[in-house]
Amino acid sequence: MKVFQSAGQIHAEINFLRSQGKKIGLVPTMGALHIGHIKLIERALMACDTVVCSIFVNPLQFNNPDDFNKYPSTIAKDTQMLEEIDCHLLFHPNYEQVYGHSEPKEYDLGHLNDMMEGLYRPGHFQGVANVVMRFFEIVQPDMAFFGLKDYQQYMVIKKVTAQHLPQIQIMGVETIRDEKGLALSSRNLRLSAEEYTSAVKVPALLRQVKEKLAELSVAEVKTWFEKKVNKIPHLKNEYIELADADTLELVTDVSNHSHIRVFTAFYAGEVRLIDNMSIA
Ligand code: PAJ
Repeated sequence: MKVFQSAGQIHAEINFLRSQGKKIGLVPTMGALHIGHIKLIERALMACDTVVCSIFVNPLQFNNPDDFNKYPSTIAKDTQMLEEIDCHLLFHPNYEQVYGHSEPKEYDLGHLNDMMEGLYRPGHFQGVANVVMRFFEIVQPDMAFFGLKDYQQYMVIKKVTAQHLPQIQIMGVETIRDEKGLALSSRNLRLSAEEYTSAVKVPALLRQVKEKLAELSVAEVKTWFEKKVNKIPHLKNEYIELADADTLELVTDVSNHSHIRVFTAFYAGEVRLIDNMSIA
């Protein structure tokens, strides 16, 4: 695997590969890689000739400086994991390489910025949109791969890409969970044993939302969920929402929508986790 820190150098390398007819896939990450990230890269390796993984902890998307400072960094282990699955290129730039030549832009994120993660993490999606568009300009991939664990992020990136770089195909990859059902996340590394035991109960509650909707209204199901989560030691529910999977319009009456996902954010101790799943 070739490792690049310089935006100019990886850009030149990829231009050369593209001139040879190679199809380029990009998997952007913030490192502390786990099986969820590895599945994205494997998916990219199946669809593309050359796969680039980027590792960059993007300060622009952290609305909480403490969260940024505590973000785990495991670059030696990450590099080894990428070598083992035969990822072709690793792009591991510093701040200057990513943002040195351009001011952050304000992207039109529409209603996606006013709800759920957009509402509770002001500025987060502008930061994500900026870094992803910057990586798209540097790498100019044919395809880029994102996890549906961050479904709202996936929708934001689809929207911004369709507006600015419509030639890039955005691919969504289903959430990878551990053996207890918890969605894999680099943040799980920060959970104590007790917090972990509590957090693993949330996916089961999300799954129950579907059956509850047979007898209760959306508003009642949301209240039921919130009470259940808040009763579990160490957990604090931040939001629970149902949204249309195609538009991310919030759902108040399930009969008006054919594809629905349920979304939650909650704290396990100090650690903020998110999850979502399809329920229709
Ligand atoms: P990060 O949290 O490192 O995630 C990188 C990619 O891996 C994202 O597309 C995310 O949705 C996906 N991913 C994480 N956990 C997953 C899981 N359990 N199953 C499936 N996919 C999973 O998301 C980011 O970084 C950043 O916001 C980024 C897009 C890199 C921009 O900075």
